Amino acid sequence: MTTKKIAVLAGDGIGPEIVAQALRVVDALELDVTTEEALVGGAAYDAYGHPLPPETLALAKVADAVLFGAVGDWKYDKLERRLRPEQAILGLRKELGLFANLRPAICYPELTAASSLKPELVAGLDILIIRELTGDIYFGQPRGRRAAPDGAFAGADEAFDTMRYTRPEIERIAHVAFRAARGRNKRLTSVDKANVLETFQFWKDVVTEVHAEYPDVTLDHLYVDNAAMQLVRAPKSFDVIVTGNMFGDILSDEAAMLTGSIGMLPSASLDSSGKGLYEPSHGSAPDIAGRDVANPLATILSLAMLLRYSLDHADAANRVEAAVREVLASGHRTADIAGSGERAIGTRTMGDAVVAALGRTT
Ligand code: NAI
Ligand code: MG
Repeated sequence: MTTKKIAVLAGDGIGPEIVAQALRVVDALELDVTTEEALVGGAAYDAYGHPLPPETLALAKVADAVLFGAVGDWKYDKLERRLRPEQAILGLRKELGLFANLRPAICYPELTAASSLKPELVAGLDILIIRELTGDIYFGQPRGRRAAPDGAFAGADEAFDTMRYTRPEIERIAHVAFRAARGRNKRLTSVDKANVLETFQFWKDVVTEVHAEYPDVTLDHLYVDNAAMQLVRAPKSFDVIVTGNMFGDILSDEAAMLTGSIGMLPSASLDSSGKGLYEPSHGSAPDIAGRDVANPLATILSLAMLLRYSLDHADAANRVEAAVREVLASGHRTADIAGSGERAIGTRTMGDAVVAALGRTT
């Protein structure tokens, strides 16, 4: 077996602090895996004048998987758009062909108090939202500003974007979703707005066609507005959700809040070959950067997804997830998940606890 390589792009803000804890977990697992770090985001802009320099992209391309921290800081807000740190993540998605964004929303029994919903609604919640990443209104052409060519406000300034999906884009995300559902509880909900948008009537038609190849999976369809309601009314009624880029952006953030803390939520972005980029769902949290208070668990759980989906180390992934459950069960809390009266520990101490818990499992 050849040694697998992880490209490590820690980025800005709390990125380096939380990624450092995930790297300690990699070491503790003693796998046949190498890691190599490179600059990305604002850190890369400061060093090279670009948020995604060619060296960093080249490393991401040769590696078997990318472990990503977060990018962004207010101090870059004045830069032109193509130089902003956030462009690095968009560039990586594009260059690596990452089209499927997997965001689990899991509510650990110890943390139900942190949820914005009643504990009985979220205790034991374990859903997976799969968001298409490359199409939809975020990338459709044409887009721009002009004088409105017609209508009641003809001649006035207007801005417009284009929602579009091609059949292959819908088919490949549908296959990812049906396979993921097959590996779980065999239930998939496709979220659309087929009643209003032609793009999403097409989405619904294509997902229904792909379903023929997965007769063991139950498929249902929901309009996005209803899905948003059901997610807060009865979130446990879902298992795997698949949807387009914009609806997925919104619903995955909504689902994140059900679980209490964004500091707990991992994510994966996959290509069609098994390669992927793994990152916490949160951003660079400049408000708490450098203070050893950030929760490293979302990043450590992203590492677990990396081991499972890209490195074929499902056993190691299970060990990492078990270690995280154990540290929560034994009362370890960073500030973001500490209840009132609970003592909060720092980023590094949380890393210590996970590494120690790993040492107790094999
Ligand atoms: P954010 O997710 O960075 O922070 C939102 C709130 O959650 C803050 O109060 C923060 O302190 C807290 N938080 C986030 N992660 C935490 C953790 N691990 N532990 C404890 N608390 C945590 O979102 P915000 O403030 O909107 O964005 C900050 C920067 O991050 C911006 O420059 C934004 O563009 C960037 N960003 C980057 C992303 C990425 O790298 N993929 C994703 C989202 C935002
Ligand atoms: Mg978002």
